[in-house]
Amino acid sequence: MAEILGIGVTHFPGLMMPDAYMSSFLTRTLASERVPAALKDPKAWPEALQREFEANKDNGAAAEHRRRLVGGFRAARQALDAFAPDFVLIWGDDQYENFREDGVPSFCVFALDEVDCRPFARPGRSQLGNAWGLAADTVVKVKGHRTAGGWLAAQLIKGDYDVSYAYRMRHELGLPHAFINTILFLDYDRRGFPYPVVPFHVNCYGSSVIAKRGSSAHLTGEGDPNAIDPPGPNPGRCFDVGAAVARALAQSPWRVALIASSSWSHAFLTAKHHWIYPDVDSDRARFDELASGNFARWRNLTTEQIEDAGQQEFLNWVCLAGAMDALGRKPEIIDYVESYLFNSDKCFALFRP
Ligand SMILES: [Fe+2]
Repeated sequence: MAEILGIGVTHFPGLMMPDAYMSSFLTRTLASERVPAALKDPKAWPEALQREFEANKDNGAAAEHRRRLVGGFRAARQALDAFAPDFVLIWGDDQYENFREDGVPSFCVFALDEVDCRPFARPGRSQLGNAWGLAADTVVKVKGHRTAGGWLAAQLIKGDYDVSYAYRMRHELGLPHAFINTILFLDYDRRGFPYPVVPFHVNCYGSSVIAKRGSSAHLTGEGDPNAIDPPGPNPGRCFDVGAAVARALAQSPWRVALIASSSWSHAFLTAKHHWIYPDVDSDRARFDELASGNFARWRNLTTEQIEDAGQQEFLNWVCLAGAMDALGRKPEIIDYVESYLFNSDKCFALFRP
């Protein structure tokens, strides 16, 4: 019989890297000509960033950040194992990986049999090593759920939510990092991940997806810094799609874990901070709405607000919020990890049946 568990996590790439590279996002930003020279001096930074930067001289802050994040993932995994889903659906973003110049859907449901992933072979990252000491060409096999993915896409389309669907990945490395990182982190202790996955793409990057190559092309000189793409789906639409997913799955034969995967505000997307640190205040406002059970307010966020706060990836969480609102669920916060140094704030939450 149908049952649904909600989970919110992150797919922060820094957790995959050794501690020494966890703050490499800031290093990359400070190397950019677009950051005013005066702001490259730590004395010009907010005090909280200076403190974290100082505490990381021996990688101590990175080790502590890892401890908190791994703790969040272990708690989420425990809840997942106790629930024993038939499959997990992951809302995640595509950062110029599977979707590029030849097509960017707002939403896409992947109905896959199985996909071979090479998460450690990412160009520019493979030589840094990884948290598990695995070879760069390691293949991670992930089971999909073609029947459930196809069924869900059909239900959404019949209900006037015109999502795209796909039967295979085009990305050279298999699942884009939003999905494969989530799976790797939920299996941080390398016991194996037995649950089939239905990846559900949300075009979080919108106006930045090609322009910034879903990351930092605006800082590295790879992209045209003035280019702007059409926007991603509005937060209200993400909320409603999430609700439609929950309503459909509540009538299905499956036990399903619905997982939103993303960090919240990203430093490299926060132009008003010259991309040096994330919008911690906006994230704190979103967190207060979540913790107080008022997350249905996220339906009223605007794309302008989201982009101003560098919270593009937060749209994944808005999908989950719509789903949990439709089911009348209350959140249980596992942890909320603020950081000025490590690119983004991260939240871990459960919505139990
Ligand atoms: Fe992402």
